[in-house]
Amino acid sequence: MARIPDAFIDDLLARSDIVELIGARVPLKRQGKEYSARCPFHDERSPSFTVSPTKQFYHCFGCGAHGTAISFLMNYDRLEFLDAVEELAKRVGMEVPRDTQQRNANPDLQDLYAAVEAASAFFRKQLAGSAKAQAYLDRRDVSEVVREQFAIGYAPDGFNGLRDALGTDPRRIALLERAGLFSKNDSGRVYDKFRDRIMFPILDRRGRTIAFGGRVIEKDDSPKYLNSPETALFHKGRELYGLWQVRQARSKIERLVVVEGYMDVVALFQHGVDYAVATLGTATTPDHAELLFRNAPDVYFCFDGDRAGRGAAWKAVESVLPRMKDGRQAFFLFLPDGEDPDSLVRAEGQAGFDARLQQATPLSQFLFDSLSSDVNLSTLEGKGRLAERARPLLAQIPDGAFADLMKQRLTELTGVGARASSPETHVPTQRAHATRPTGTAAPKRSLVRGAIALLLQRPALALELAPPLRFAALRQPGIPLLVELVELVHGRPDIGVGSLVDHFADREEHAALQKLASQTLPGEDAAWGTEFIDAITQLERQTVQQRVDELHEHVRQGGFGALSPAEKAELVALQASLRKL
Ligand code: UTP
Ligand code: MN
Repeated sequence: MARIPDAFIDDLLARSDIVELIGARVPLKRQGKEYSARCPFHDERSPSFTVSPTKQFYHCFGCGAHGTAISFLMNYDRLEFLDAVEELAKRVGMEVPRDTQQRNANPDLQDLYAAVEAASAFFRKQLAGSAKAQAYLDRRDVSEVVREQFAIGYAPDGFNGLRDALGTDPRRIALLERAGLFSKNDSGRVYDKFRDRIMFPILDRRGRTIAFGGRVIEKDDSPKYLNSPETALFHKGRELYGLWQVRQARSKIERLVVVEGYMDVVALFQHGVDYAVATLGTATTPDHAELLFRNAPDVYFCFDGDRAGRGAAWKAVESVLPRMKDGRQAFFLFLPDGEDPDSLVRAEGQAGFDARLQQATPLSQFLFDSLSSDVNLSTLEGKGRLAERARPLLAQIPDGAFADLMKQRLTELTGVGARASSPETHVPTQRAHATRPTGTAAPKRSLVRGAIALLLQRPALALELAPPLRFAALRQPGIPLLVELVELVHGRPDIGVGSLVDHFADREEHAALQKLASQTLPGEDAAWGTEFIDAITQLERQTVQQRVDELHEHVRQGGFGALSPAEKAELVALQASLRKL
């Protein structure tokens, strides 16, 4: 696979501000030259995640997560490499080299996206031409605006509408099939999967159409809703219907409302609740929970008030508990009998719906109420049972104030603590920063190690050295690595610390380099240049000495005559340069 030129990546990273990028997603606190936060990639109580503006990379001393602005976008926003590059390029106003753009993207997936997009356009055109489908949407009072906003379409009746329109050759037919748009009969013949249905395209978080949900028009047809199967583009447990539209509608998302259905999302948007998303006919998965909280600190789950609804709500509880980092809040809204968000917001409007959200049950209350609904808390037996049920659940909440408060609440209800946080063993919320392994203590370093460490603080130091690198001949551990690093920087003068380390991702040196790169070196950065040159000079001296010793060894073994005239001259010159160095 062709690659984006390294020089472009280096330039892109050099122009990007990683602090701003991460700071927009994770609250950062300034600490000396760096910024720190609680790691977004693992659950922790005290911040061991650092972002360095000078090195333009991040590093977590707890879980080892580290990388550049590109890797951050890949891991946090879950973007593909090329998408992350494009995203960054857009931010700094750079253009990703075009031909690499095309050669780089997985051509296969690219075609698949295009096929789904073409199908979406086809369905929209069909809607424009179908009085029946339009009448259905009119009847359900779906406005023109949201029809556009959600790109709602119509899959025509009959078995070959889409196939005839878009499946013009075997390759296209195969693509549409892989996109989940066809079914196959026993004799292997493919036909349209979605027939006579209102089509709701499902968009991923970059706004690309990846799948569909289709609703019947005739009420006796079944199933009422048909979803695309799982495909290379679509994993329903990881997608939220409407999230793209929410992100388009508002730059800062304060809260998200999670509902069950396509029509619920559409109706809520139409009535001004433009922060609604739907799971796609599945229970709330942990992936959903993470995705929700990455987009908003407060998440409201709407469920039917019946037994099934409560069961689904409990599933959601189980998925969100491990995601309940401090600062995140989950609420549960149970709807009156026979109502769904669609019917409610039409009847009560945005204000009415908002008022219901205000009354939603907080996670803490729902959890304890559910667990104790069938126990008698005035008996020791009842308290014991509640404690036993609650403990494993509370243990899943990431360390933090919320976890402490939940355990405290359990103690209030039962008189029994949840172990870890009984008052005696309670760990203070703010651990002393002194225990943080920032690596500030000056490690004992060999010359080579010192030079490598300096390079990993400021790769441009390598540009001070003009090839050939005399110390390359020195037989010492670390020299080949140092040479490789220097040469790498010579080839990519704009390379940043993160990319430099990433270059070694598959090598055994990786961990050590990562560690050196994340150290905060003592001393002034102004002095690093001198320190680096000094180290290199000493290494060169050792290289000369090594050669001198070698020649002396020849002499010792075979007398001065063992040296060729050239070697004799070399020895004299070397000894002279040793005196100078
Ligand atoms: P509902 O049956 O509650 O439908 O299914 P709804 O959203 O109120 O739809 P309308 O108002 O009748 O049009 C809720 C959600 O469950 C999934 C769909 O995601 C649907 O939006 N579902 C339901 C299916 O996937 N398949 C089905 O057969 C039914
Ligand atoms: Mn409904």
